[in-house]
Amino acid sequence: MFYVKTRPNEQEFSINENESILEAAIRQKVMLPYGCGNGQCGSCKVFVTQGEFEYLHDYKPEALSEQDCKDGAMLCCMAKARSDLELLIPENNDYPEIEPQRYQSKVITVDTLTDNVYKLVLEINSNQFDYYPGQYIELLLQGDQKRAYSLACLPERDNEKLSQKIELHIRVHEKGLFSELLRHEISTGYPLMFEGPRGHFLLNQTLSSKVIFVAGGTGIVPVKLLLEDCLSQVQDEEIYLFWGVKNQYELFHDDFFSQLSQEYINFHYIPVLTEPDQSSAPWHGASGIVTNSVVEKVSDLSRSQVYAAGPQVMIQSCQTIFPAFGLSEDNLYTDIFLQPGKTSGKKKRNIFQKIFS
Ligand code: FES
Repeated sequence: MFYVKTRPNEQEFSINENESILEAAIRQKVMLPYGCGNGQCGSCKVFVTQGEFEYLHDYKPEALSEQDCKDGAMLCCMAKARSDLELLIPENNDYPEIEPQRYQSKVITVDTLTDNVYKLVLEINSNQFDYYPGQYIELLLQGDQKRAYSLACLPERDNEKLSQKIELHIRVHEKGLFSELLRHEISTGYPLMFEGPRGHFLLNQTLSSKVIFVAGGTGIVPVKLLLEDCLSQVQDEEIYLFWGVKNQYELFHDDFFSQLSQEYINFHYIPVLTEPDQSSAPWHGASGIVTNSVVEKVSDLSRSQVYAAGPQVMIQSCQTIFPAFGLSEDNLYTDIFLQPGKTSGKKKRNIFQKIFS
């Protein structure tokens, strides 16, 4: 067993053999930043100031830049200790950490937004739950199973009193554990326990001159909240939203974003369809792969921030394509949506992955 000390907040915890540093920290209720939990997003980056580590499962830290590696950066979710460690945690003064806790709630309403996206409103038995736009919760299901869903409404504070209602927009999947419950069992009054808030997919409080949001499918859920947060403080910045879905019927927030683009002249909304249905009303908008549409429309990504949420393949495409168009790796913020059984084969799934369905 090894021991870890963190700076500047002076935390200490132990690590068992073959346990990731993030797993050990969470088990002992030590606060470390993290997002995807599987080495994809870079949110758990820390700097090793003393000691040695190695990555689990032959992992290569693709979410770190060359400079990060030279500076001693490490991704906690994929690393194990080879000696006692001292870690420097980059501070995020914009967003003081909200400690995740367990909450009991009950279902208020269940509605459908599309054929396969449900809207679930929960009432929490406590007025203590707070979070930032872009964060998510984990529903605790039978058999120690967890399913992670992004919060779909902005946090409300009324005279400093927190809202007791939260909203989730959930895509159902064939034979998905929670999908089956949602389709066949859940109705008003159904009890649901959750833990949260989790995740570090948050808006940088210093905006670049171009801010580009990219969503795939229900990746629009956290992206919509970041966009609303962004528009509430925007001045001269150009703001883009690219939303990739299969066809017109999956654009369940289309009216909302179209309305916003009327209100804000510097906001550009570009829905992108992979299989537009031309039979009812011809589609004249963008079609194809959403990341291709981004670089067709905004060819210079230098001086830009990109916030991308969606399936792993879309996030990998952002990581591969956008730097070639000038995007600095530090300005790509990601939130990966994973389905059970659809994880990259070379990386072992761990309990912190954001799994839904
Ligand atoms: S890379 Fe570690 S949490 Fe995403």
